[in-house]
Amino acid sequence: MSRVLITGISGFIGGHIWAQLAHSEDLWGLYGATGSVPLKPERQLGCDLSQPDNIYHLIKDLKPTHVVHLAGMARPELCRRNSLLAWKVNHAATRELAAAAAEIDARVIFISSDQVFDGTRGNYREGDPPEPVNVYGETKKAAERVVLAQVDNSVVLRLNITYGPPRFKGGSFSEWILDRERSGQPISLFFDQYRSPLDIVTATRAIVELIDHRFQGVLHLGGANRVNRVTFGRMLLKHLGRDASGILETQSTKTDPEGTMPVDTSFDLTLARQTLHTPIANLMEGLRLAYGPPRSGIV
Ligand SMILES: NC(=O)c1ccc[n+]([C@@H]2O[C@H](COP(=O)([O-])OP(=O)(O)OC[C@H]3O[C@@H](n4cnc5c(N)ncnc54)[C@H](OP(=O)(O)O)[C@@H]3O)[C@@H](O)[C@H]2O)c1
Repeated sequence: MSRVLITGISGFIGGHIWAQLAHSEDLWGLYGATGSVPLKPERQLGCDLSQPDNIYHLIKDLKPTHVVHLAGMARPELCRRNSLLAWKVNHAATRELAAAAAEIDARVIFISSDQVFDGTRGNYREGDPPEPVNVYGETKKAAERVVLAQVDNSVVLRLNITYGPPRFKGGSFSEWILDRERSGQPISLFFDQYRSPLDIVTATRAIVELIDHRFQGVLHLGGANRVNRVTFGRMLLKHLGRDASGILETQSTKTDPEGTMPVDTSFDLTLARQTLHTPIANLMEGLRLAYGPPRSGIV
C-alpha cells in the first residue's frame, strides 16, 4: 500500500496537487505558517521547516512510501533578504527530509527550479551544470545534490516559471500581472528575460504522474514556448480579453545591475517528452488549460 506525503500544500503548486489527489486514500499534506487548506483537513499537519529536524522526525513517524517535496522559500527576492532562513528551509530541511526518506526507502520527488542556471545560454538540458546567480538558486542546487546523493529512488523535477490561478492560496507571475491590470497599475515586464512558462494544469499532471513513475534523476519541465516576459504578459491579457496597454517594456539590467536574475532559463524538453505521458502544452494551450477558453473584448 502506498502512502503519499505532499509538502507545501498551502502554496500555489502544492494546493493544486492537494486538490488533484484529494480522492486518494492514504494521502497526507504539510502546510506552513499560513495554516491548513480545504479538503481532508484531518490529513493535514503543520510543519515548520525553519527547524529542519521537524521534517526528519515527521517522516520517520508517518512512514510515507512517496514524498513530493514542494515546500520552500520560492521567491528569489525573499531568499536574498533572508539568506540564512532560505538555507535552512530550502537546503537543510530538504537534507533532513532526504535522510529520513532514505532510511525508510521512500521515493522522493523534489521540486527544483530553472533558477539553478545562470541564464547565459538558455535552452538548458538536464546534464548542463547548474551555476546559480542568486541565493534561491544556490539553495535549490544544494538541495538537489542532497536528494540525489541520499535517496536512491528520487526525482529532481526542475520547473520553469509556473502560471495560473491559485487553487487555495499562493500566487503566481500571471496573477501578479492580472492584479496590476485590475487595479490600473503599470505592469513593468522585462523584454530581455526569457523563460519557458509552464501552466499549472500541466505542472500538476506531470508531478502526479511522476509519483508512481519509474523515472529517477533530473527532469526539466516547462511550457513548449520560449518567450520573454513582455510576450507572456501580452498573451495572458489578450487571452483574458484584458487591456495590455499598461505593460511597460523594461530592461532587466537596469533594475538588476548585479545580474542576480538569470536572463534566459528556457528549457530543452526532449527528456520530459520522452518520459511523461502528460502532454506538454504550448503557451496558447497552457493559457486555456489554466484560465479557460479565450475571452473577447476588453473587460
Ligand atoms: N511557482 C513557480 O513558478 C516555481 C517555479 C519553479 C520551482 N518552483 C518550486 O516549487 C515549489 C512550490 O512553489 P510555489 O510557487 O507553490 O511556492 P509558494 O506558493 O510560495 O508555496 C511555498 C510552500 O512552502 C511552504 N513553506 C515556506 N516556508 C516554510 C517553512 N518555513 N516551513 C514550512 N513550510 C514552508 C509554504 O507554507 P506557508 O505559505 O503556509 O508558510 C507553502 O506551502 C517551491 O519549492 C518552488 O521553489 C516554483
